[in-house]
Amino acid sequence: MNTSSASCDLKPGLVCEEEYVVTEEYSAKHIGSGTVMVLSTPSMILLIERTALNCVQKYLPVNHTTVGTMVSVKHLNPAPVGGVVRVVVKLIGVEGRRLLFEVWVYYKGRVVGEGQHERYIVEVERFLERVRRIQSE
Ligand SMILES: CC(C)(COP(=O)(O)OP(=O)(O)OC[C@H]1O[C@@H](n2cnc3c(N)ncnc32)[C@H](O)[C@@H]1OP(=O)(O)O)[C@@H](O)C(=O)NCCC(=O)NCCS
Repeated sequence: MNTSSASCDLKPGLVCEEEYVVTEEYSAKHIGSGTVMVLSTPSMILLIERTALNCVQKYLPVNHTTVGTMVSVKHLNPAPVGGVVRVVVKLIGVEGRRLLFEVWVYYKGRVVGEGQHERYIVEVERFLERVRRIQSE
């Protein structure tokens, strides 16, 4: 299967969710994006990206993956270190290699974050070839 048809098994409506413990490494204090021991905004984005990546990987042909190209989320409520957050991603758009997700993060049923996330399907070796080209410019 070539990359242009790589998304053919992916359909809007696919929903995936994962739970994560908010460990100290995810805190704003540890990351340096803030001073308090709560889930940092960069860490929340990491958990959203990881959930979306895992959600679609099994639908892709071998030697393909997805890379994050856009994140637009609001961080609406804090989640404490030691707490468990639930990340839900819903695939709402598939246009060729472009995948668009609606995303939500919850702590105890309260919305911690919400927004949209875009990923692109790439053929790993071609992507790395471009990285090498950029590096050698
Ligand atoms: C994802 C991305 C490739 C999409 O770009 P695009 O506008 O669709 O790409 P184009 O079709 O214009 O092609 C540009 C280059 O992307 C690469 N590319 C295109 N299609 C590709 C594919 N199917 N697989 C791998 N790389 C591909 C090629 O290197 C291409 O250059 P080339 O044609 O000279 O080889 C680009 O936005 C990007 O690299 N973003 C950075 C993503 C990132 O690093 N995220 C963090 C890691 S998760």
